[in-house]
Amino acid sequence: LSNGLGMTPPMGWNSWNHFGCNIDEKMIRETADALVSTGLSKLGYEYVNIDDCWAEISRDDKGNLVPKKSTFPSGIKALADYVHKKGLKLGIYSDAGYFTCSRRMPGSLGYEEQDAETFASWGIDYLKYDNCNNDGSKPTQRYPVMTRALMKVGRPIFFSLCEWGDMHPAEWGAPLGNSWRTTNDISDNWESMISRADQNEIYAEYARPGGWNDPDMLEVGNGGMTKDEYIVHFSLWAISKAPLLLGCDIRNMTRETMDIITNKEVIAVNQDPYGFQAKKVRMEGDQEIWSAPLSGYKIAVVLLNRGPVRYSTTARWDDIGLDPKTVVQARDLWEHKTLKTTFVGNLTATLRPHSCKLYVLKPIA
Ligand code: GLA
Repeated sequence: LSNGLGMTPPMGWNSWNHFGCNIDEKMIRETADALVSTGLSKLGYEYVNIDDCWAEISRDDKGNLVPKKSTFPSGIKALADYVHKKGLKLGIYSDAGYFTCSRRMPGSLGYEEQDAETFASWGIDYLKYDNCNNDGSKPTQRYPVMTRALMKVGRPIFFSLCEWGDMHPAEWGAPLGNSWRTTNDISDNWESMISRADQNEIYAEYARPGGWNDPDMLEVGNGGMTKDEYIVHFSLWAISKAPLLLGCDIRNMTRETMDIITNKEVIAVNQDPYGFQAKKVRMEGDQEIWSAPLSGYKIAVVLLNRGPVRYSTTARWDDIGLDPKTVVQARDLWEHKTLKTTFVGNLTATLRPHSCKLYVLKPIA
């Protein structure tokens, strides 16, 4: 969407994966505080996104959405002011239907202009727009109504389409939104995570600055995967130019979680100005090579072992689009090391089960 937003994939946090409907303004404020105190905001994590369940089940007598009095007594405007004072941005959630997916609050179908104005008046910076409980018409009929409404309110609002991939939103999302979900909901386990990465990869050609494929939010730090698996999760999201929306309780994180989500070099791959989404360039059983060109004649490469046993995996230059004679310097982004030797033609690594290597390759001769 040409609203000037999302020139690189959005970064921030969203309440859903960890908290579900169990949200309130105190927790949102504490999350904003934690984004700053942990240093995450300096690394680019700027959106504080409230997901489903923030509003009363009924609109007021003028038809306006009303923040839930028991959990958001100060209102959303006050929260936006709080978040903005910290240099962060506030996101909110609605639905292109009569009710949101939880059915605990109204959707925006038929109220698009009014709700867009409400969100703008509160100072909202990001809208996630879900697809539950609609009138049965196509998303391509309902989503553009909100796009136009947002374009009219005069406040740049990142527009995240949450259609779950059923109608291939990558094919029609670019003029309508800044990102589009390519998958149904992620859960905090290896199978769910890796299958979402797979499904999202199919649409790699469609990603570009201003419009990104969205394989759903991060589960890093929620406890259901091993450290290696979370590193695969973060690496694949980064190289796929996916939104980096944290989904854990960032007020209480382990050192291990912090180490993963604060890896500056991996974040830089995600935020590279070219915005090319990685593709699988080789699949051999459980071994895969994913790669994407980066700016500055560099190439990001993931060597992935999806299998249950240790395995030695090779990235070949002809698969990643280099002449086999090219001499390459390799930076290991998880070891934070430039490898001592240079490489010609290929690079091999031994990978633990459910683990990966993420390299940035730099041709030097
Ligand atoms: C859908 C979305 C999720 C989340 C929930 C909230 O399932 O895909 O990301 O927003 O609704 O109810």
